[in-house]
Amino acid sequence: MTTSIRFLHISDTHLGPKKEFIQHEVNTFEAFSQFITTVRGLPFKPEFIIHTGDITSDCYEEGYKLMASEIENLGIPLYFVTGNHDRSEQIKKYLSSNNAETLSSRLNSYRFSVGNHTFMTLDGRGPDAIDPHGVISAEQMEILKKELETGKQLTLFIHYSTHPLDSIWFDENMLLTNETEFHQLLVSHKDQVRGVLFGHIHRSTQTFQDGILYASVGSTAIQFHLNPDQEVPMFESTGRGYFNIVSIDESKMIIKEQSFANGQKIYDYKT
Ligand SMILES: [Fe+2]
Repeated sequence: MTTSIRFLHISDTHLGPKKEFIQHEVNTFEAFSQFITTVRGLPFKPEFIIHTGDITSDCYEEGYKLMASEIENLGIPLYFVTGNHDRSEQIKKYLSSNNAETLSSRLNSYRFSVGNHTFMTLDGRGPDAIDPHGVISAEQMEILKKELETGKQLTLFIHYSTHPLDSIWFDENMLLTNETEFHQLLVSHKDQVRGVLFGHIHRSTQTFQDGILYASVGSTAIQFHLNPDQEVPMFESTGRGYFNIVSIDESKMIIKEQSFANGQKIYDYKT
Protein backbone atom coordinates (compact mmCIF):
# COMPACT_ATOMS: atom_id res chain seq x y z
CA MET A 1 0.00 0.00 0.00
CA THR A 2 1.35 3.43 -0.90
CA THR A 3 1.32 5.91 1.92
CA SER A 4 2.04 9.46 0.96
CA ILE A 5 2.87 12.07 3.56
CA ARG A 6 3.85 15.72 3.36
CA PHE A 7 6.16 17.67 5.59
CA LEU A 8 7.91 21.04 5.50
CA HIS A 9 11.66 21.57 5.50
CA ILE A 10 12.97 24.83 6.95
CA SER A 11 16.37 25.97 8.12
CA ASP A 12 18.53 28.77 9.43
CA THR A 13 15.99 30.89 11.26
CA HIS A 14 18.88 32.68 13.06
CA LEU A 15 16.78 34.06 15.90
CA GLY A 16 18.47 36.52 18.20
CA PRO A 17 18.24 37.08 21.96
CA LYS A 18 15.21 39.33 21.51
CA LYS A 19 12.47 39.96 18.96
CA GLU A 20 14.13 43.16 17.69
CA PHE A 21 17.33 41.34 16.65
CA ILE A 22 18.55 42.21 13.14
CA GLN A 23 21.03 40.19 11.11
CA HIS A 24 22.14 41.27 7.65
CA GLU A 25 19.35 43.87 7.64
CA VAL A 26 16.65 41.29 8.39
CA ASN A 27 14.55 41.00 11.54
CA THR A 28 14.86 37.25 11.80
CA PHE A 29 12.08 36.86 14.36
CA GLU A 30 9.63 38.72 12.15
CA ALA A 31 10.66 36.55 9.22
CA PHE A 32 10.01 33.41 11.23
CA SER A 33 6.67 34.78 12.45
CA GLN A 34 5.73 35.36 8.84
CA PHE A 35 6.63 31.76 8.08
CA ILE A 36 4.31 30.61 10.88
CA THR A 37 1.54 32.81 9.47
CA THR A 38 2.17 31.25 6.06
CA VAL A 39 1.95 27.74 7.50
CA ARG A 40 -1.36 28.56 9.18
CA GLY A 41 -2.69 29.67 5.80
CA LEU A 42 -1.61 26.60 3.84
CA PRO A 43 -4.45 24.64 2.24
CA PHE A 44 -3.08 21.39 3.74
CA LYS A 45 -1.68 20.33 7.08
CA PRO A 46 1.91 19.02 7.03
CA GLU A 47 2.63 15.98 9.20
CA PHE A 48 5.61 17.77 10.72
CA ILE A 49 8.19 20.50 10.13
CA ILE A 50 11.89 19.67 10.14
CA HIS A 51 14.26 22.51 10.99
CA THR A 52 17.80 21.66 9.86
CA GLY A 53 19.64 23.95 12.23
CA ASP A 54 20.85 27.41 13.11
CA ILE A 55 17.75 27.99 15.18
CA THR A 56 19.46 30.97 16.77
CA SER A 57 22.23 33.08 15.38
CA ASP A 58 24.69 32.50 18.19
CA CYS A 59 23.27 29.86 20.57
CA TYR A 60 21.20 32.49 22.39
CA GLU A 61 19.22 30.99 25.31
CA GLU A 62 16.50 33.57 24.72
CA GLY A 63 16.40 32.67 21.05
CA TYR A 64 15.50 29.06 21.82
CA LYS A 65 12.79 30.32 24.18
CA LEU A 66 11.45 32.59 21.43
CA MET A 67 11.31 29.62 19.08
CA ALA A 68 9.53 27.48 21.68
CA SER A 69 6.89 30.12 22.36
CA GLU A 70 6.33 30.92 18.68
CA ILE A 71 5.52 27.30 17.76
CA GLU A 72 3.63 26.46 20.94
CA ASN A 73 0.11 26.50 19.50
CA LEU A 74 0.87 25.60 15.92
CA GLY A 75 -0.54 22.09 16.18
CA ILE A 76 2.23 20.68 13.95
CA PRO A 77 5.27 18.99 15.52
CA LEU A 78 8.63 20.62 14.81
CA TYR A 79 11.84 18.61 14.90
CA PHE A 80 15.20 20.32 15.24
CA VAL A 81 18.70 19.52 13.97
CA THR A 82 21.80 21.08 15.51
CA GLY A 83 23.43 23.78 13.37
CA ASN A 84 26.88 25.30 13.70
CA HIS A 85 25.33 28.27 15.54
CA ASP A 86 23.47 25.92 17.92
CA ARG A 87 24.36 23.77 20.88
CA SER A 88 22.71 20.36 21.10
CA GLU A 89 22.20 20.64 24.85
CA GLN A 90 20.23 23.87 24.39
CA ILE A 91 17.97 22.30 21.78
CA LYS A 92 17.35 19.37 24.10
CA LYS A 93 16.69 21.74 26.97
CA TYR A 94 14.28 24.19 25.33
CA LEU A 95 12.62 22.42 22.41
CA SER A 96 10.39 19.36 22.52
CA SER A 97 11.57 16.22 20.77
CA ASN A 98 7.93 15.22 20.15
CA ASN A 99 8.56 11.74 21.59
CA ALA A 100 11.22 10.93 19.01
CA GLU A 101 13.50 8.05 19.96
CA THR A 102 16.78 9.48 21.21
CA LEU A 103 19.83 7.70 19.80
CA SER A 104 22.48 9.45 21.92
CA SER A 105 22.54 11.16 25.29
CA ARG A 106 25.16 13.63 24.06
CA LEU A 107 24.33 14.19 20.41
CA ASN A 108 21.11 15.60 19.02
CA SER A 109 20.49 12.44 17.00
CA TYR A 110 17.12 10.75 17.04
CA ARG A 111 14.66 8.79 14.98
CA PHE A 112 10.94 9.18 14.42
CA SER A 113 8.36 7.61 12.17
CA VAL A 114 5.24 8.79 10.40
CA GLY A 115 3.20 5.97 8.90
CA ASN A 116 5.77 3.61 7.45
CA HIS A 117 8.37 6.34 6.82
CA THR A 118 11.34 6.65 9.14
CA PHE A 119 13.32 9.84 9.64
CA MET A 120 16.61 10.36 11.44
CA THR A 121 18.53 13.45 12.50
CA LEU A 122 22.32 13.60 12.48
CA ASP A 123 24.34 15.86 14.74
CA GLY A 124 27.29 17.21 12.74
CA ARG A 125 28.35 19.96 15.17
CA GLY A 126 32.08 19.56 15.74
CA PRO A 127 34.52 21.39 18.01
CA ASP A 128 34.60 25.18 17.68
CA ALA A 129 38.03 24.94 16.04
CA ILE A 130 36.52 23.51 12.83
CA ASP A 131 33.42 25.74 12.71
CA PRO A 132 31.73 26.40 10.25
CA HIS A 133 32.76 22.97 9.03
CA GLY A 134 30.91 20.06 10.55
CA VAL A 135 31.97 16.48 11.19
CA ILE A 136 30.25 13.14 11.53
CA SER A 137 31.86 12.04 14.78
CA ALA A 138 32.81 8.43 15.42
CA GLU A 139 29.83 8.15 17.76
CA GLN A 140 27.42 9.58 15.19
CA MET A 141 28.85 7.36 12.45
CA GLU A 142 28.32 4.27 14.61
CA ILE A 143 24.74 5.27 15.38
CA LEU A 144 24.02 5.78 11.68
CA LYS A 145 25.63 2.45 10.74
CA LYS A 146 23.50 0.68 13.32
CA GLU A 147 20.33 2.26 11.94
CA LEU A 148 21.26 1.34 8.38
CA GLU A 149 22.02 -2.23 9.42
CA THR A 150 18.39 -2.69 10.43
CA GLY A 151 17.60 -2.68 6.70
CA LYS A 152 14.88 -0.07 6.94
CA GLN A 153 14.61 2.93 4.67
CA LEU A 154 15.64 6.27 6.11
CA THR A 155 15.32 9.93 5.25
CA LEU A 156 18.22 11.78 6.89
CA PHE A 157 18.37 15.34 8.19
CA ILE A 158 21.63 17.16 8.86
CA HIS A 159 22.70 20.79 9.05
CA TYR A 160 25.85 20.68 6.97
CA SER A 161 26.61 20.60 3.33
CA THR A 162 27.72 17.06 2.63
CA HIS A 163 29.48 17.62 -0.69
CA PRO A 164 31.16 20.43 -2.67
CA LEU A 165 28.74 22.76 -4.46
CA ASP A 166 30.93 24.35 -7.12
CA SER A 167 31.34 27.54 -5.11
CA ILE A 168 34.84 28.26 -3.79
CA TRP A 169 34.13 29.84 -0.38
CA PHE A 170 31.48 27.30 0.52
CA ASP A 171 33.51 24.34 -0.56
CA GLU A 172 36.49 25.54 1.45
CA ASN A 173 34.57 26.44 4.62
CA MET A 174 31.17 24.84 5.00
CA LEU A 175 31.45 21.11 4.37
CA LEU A 176 31.70 18.14 6.66
CA THR A 177 35.38 17.42 7.23
CA ASN A 178 34.71 13.74 6.54
CA GLU A 179 32.09 14.07 3.86
CA THR A 180 33.66 11.38 1.66
CA GLU A 181 33.47 8.76 4.42
CA PHE A 182 29.87 9.77 5.13
CA HIS A 183 28.90 9.65 1.45
CA GLN A 184 30.52 6.25 0.97
CA LEU A 185 28.57 4.84 3.90
CA LEU A 186 25.34 6.11 2.36
CA VAL A 187 26.28 4.77 -1.08
CA SER A 188 26.85 1.32 0.42
CA HIS A 189 23.20 1.45 1.61
CA LYS A 190 21.78 3.47 -1.25
CA ASP A 191 18.64 1.38 -1.57
CA GLN A 192 17.76 2.40 1.97
CA VAL A 193 18.61 6.11 1.85
CA ARG A 194 15.61 8.06 0.58
CA GLY A 195 17.40 11.37 0.74
CA VAL A 196 19.59 13.69 2.79
CA LEU A 197 18.01 17.06 3.56
CA PHE A 198 20.21 19.83 4.87
CA GLY A 199 20.53 23.58 5.54
CA HIS A 200 23.60 25.71 6.39
CA ILE A 201 24.02 27.14 2.89
CA HIS A 202 20.84 29.28 2.99
CA ARG A 203 19.90 28.28 -0.53
CA SER A 204 17.89 25.56 -2.21
CA THR A 205 20.09 23.04 -4.06
CA GLN A 206 19.63 19.52 -5.33
CA THR A 207 22.47 17.08 -5.99
CA PHE A 208 22.10 13.49 -7.09
CA GLN A 209 25.38 11.67 -6.60
CA ASP A 210 26.08 7.94 -6.82
CA GLY A 211 22.42 7.19 -6.18
CA ILE A 212 22.05 9.51 -3.18
CA LEU A 213 19.78 12.55 -3.29
CA TYR A 214 20.98 15.59 -1.34
CA ALA A 215 18.65 18.60 -1.09
CA SER A 216 19.00 21.85 0.82
CA VAL A 217 16.56 24.64 1.58
CA GLY A 218 16.83 28.42 1.74
CA SER A 219 16.72 30.29 5.03
CA THR A 220 13.50 31.71 6.43
CA ALA A 221 15.36 35.02 6.70
CA ILE A 222 18.67 35.57 4.86
CA GLN A 223 19.97 33.92 1.70
CA PHE A 224 23.50 33.19 0.52
CA HIS A 225 24.71 33.33 -3.04
CA LEU A 226 26.60 30.27 -4.24
CA ASN A 227 28.17 31.44 -7.45
CA PRO A 228 30.94 29.40 -9.02
CA ASP A 229 34.35 31.06 -8.47
CA GLN A 230 32.95 33.06 -5.53
CA GLU A 231 35.72 33.52 -2.96
CA VAL A 232 33.84 35.36 -0.21
CA PRO A 233 30.38 34.87 1.30
CA MET A 234 27.70 37.00 -0.33
CA PHE A 235 24.36 37.64 1.36
CA GLU A 236 20.96 38.53 0.02
CA SER A 237 18.32 40.23 2.16
CA THR A 238 15.24 40.70 0.03
CA GLY A 239 12.70 40.23 2.79
CA ARG A 240 11.76 36.94 1.21
CA GLY A 241 12.04 33.66 3.11
CA TYR A 242 11.96 30.10 1.84
CA PHE A 243 10.76 26.65 2.81
CA ASN A 244 10.31 23.37 0.99
CA ILE A 245 7.21 21.23 0.82
CA VAL A 246 8.29 17.59 0.72
CA SER A 247 5.92 14.83 -0.41
CA ILE A 248 7.16 11.30 0.09
CA ASP A 249 5.72 7.88 -0.65
CA GLU A 250 7.26 4.45 -1.15
CA SER A 251 8.60 5.22 -4.61
CA LYS A 252 9.45 8.91 -4.76
CA MET A 253 10.20 12.16 -3.01
CA ILE A 254 8.92 15.44 -4.43
CA ILE A 255 10.50 18.68 -3.16
CA LYS A 256 8.88 22.01 -3.94
CA GLU A 257 10.42 25.32 -2.96
CA GLN A 258 8.00 27.95 -1.70
CA SER A 259 8.65 31.54 -0.69
CA PHE A 260 6.92 33.99 1.58
CA ALA A 261 7.27 37.65 2.50
CA ASN A 262 5.66 40.17 4.76
CA GLY A 263 2.37 41.31 3.32
CA GLN A 264 2.46 38.70 0.57
CA LYS A 265 -0.93 37.79 -0.83
CA ILE A 266 -1.77 34.38 -2.22
CA TYR A 267 -4.48 34.36 -4.85
CA ASP A 268 -6.84 31.61 -5.85
CA TYR A 269 -7.14 31.63 -9.60
CA LYS A 270 -10.80 31.65 -10.56
CA THR A 271 -11.95 31.13 -14.13
FE1 LIG B 1 22.88 29.49 9.04
